[in-house]
Amino acid sequence: MTVLPATTETIDRAAALLRDGAVVAFPTETVYGLGANALDARAVARIFEIKARPTFDPLIVHVADDAMLNRVAVNVPDLARALIERFWPGPLTLVLRKTADVPDLVTSGLESVAVRMPAHPVARALIERAGIPLAAPSANPFGYLSPTRAEHVARMLGDRVDLILDGGATEHGVESTIVMVEPEPTLLRYGAIALDAIEEIVGPLARELSDRAKPLAPGRLPQHYAPRTPIRVVEPSEVAYAERADAVQLAFREAVPGYRASRVLSASGDLREAAANLFLDLHELDALGASRIDAQPVPLEGIGIAIMDRLRRASHR
Ligand code: TXA
Ligand code: MG
Repeated sequence: MTVLPATTETIDRAAALLRDGAVVAFPTETVYGLGANALDARAVARIFEIKARPTFDPLIVHVADDAMLNRVAVNVPDLARALIERFWPGPLTLVLRKTADVPDLVTSGLESVAVRMPAHPVARALIERAGIPLAAPSANPFGYLSPTRAEHVARMLGDRVDLILDGGATEHGVESTIVMVEPEPTLLRYGAIALDAIEEIVGPLARELSDRAKPLAPGRLPQHYAPRTPIRVVEPSEVAYAERADAVQLAFREAVPGYRASRVLSASGDLREAAANLFLDLHELDALGASRIDAQPVPLEGIGIAIMDRLRRASHR
């Protein structure tokens, strides 16, 4: 396994590996991604293999500029253009009509492709230097906690990837928001960009898939982002003292006493800070071998909605 700090030289090396069909983990502003040449089905197949990801779950393609966007997507609707104008580069993924260049494996056979232009300087430099769009899911085994630091990737997948570029802790800590523009503007995943910011541009987004949109949006699994330790979302007042001793606690602003160990997402109640700490704290709590993780709910506003979405899926059994 090789973990290298991201520098001009190591990014060049990673770009060369990617052009040769290798799989490289790299930082984005949301979580670390596991990248491969999106136009090379054999390279992409390695991502599925490394993550043990089912092939019905399509990947997001990462681009660095308009030319690359046009290689993977056609007929980009005006609504999508408006979102691109406002939010790219950044943590918004758009589901668009794909070109023939995108292998079926990337899109699970759909006619659409999910695309985003990351804002992280290392991700951008890497895609630019490689000169190819990168298919990249989060760099974790399928269904498990997402990585927000290079160490998380090294621990979970280090023996299986060709190179890990270390760019420090990620800024947002939760994945990109995913929006499908057609047949009707629909939210597919809560994420780092809050819904109200998107709705300011495009008007109300459907939160539920219409019947004709349902088959167009696979990979929205009720159980996901899960630590190995069983986790539940619960108000501290509902947990008897005696029930706390062998459990650990993921608190929002303040830990309650009685737990074996605790992490606090944001003492000041800042939801952005809480999102950035979410997976880091869960990785740490998961390593303690407790019988249970009790997570306090966070307010359902802004990025708090994405945090609660992750916690609910993590606790789904
Ligand atoms: O922040 C992120 O988006 C991170 C970083 C690495 O960029 N990536 C990420 O990828 O979260 P992943 O593989 O965990 O999420 C991909 C999800 C799929 O599970 C599916 O829900 C949706 O994106 N998706 C991908 N392609 C799609 C398509 N053609 N139509 C509908 N949904 C799609
Ligand atoms: Mg993921």
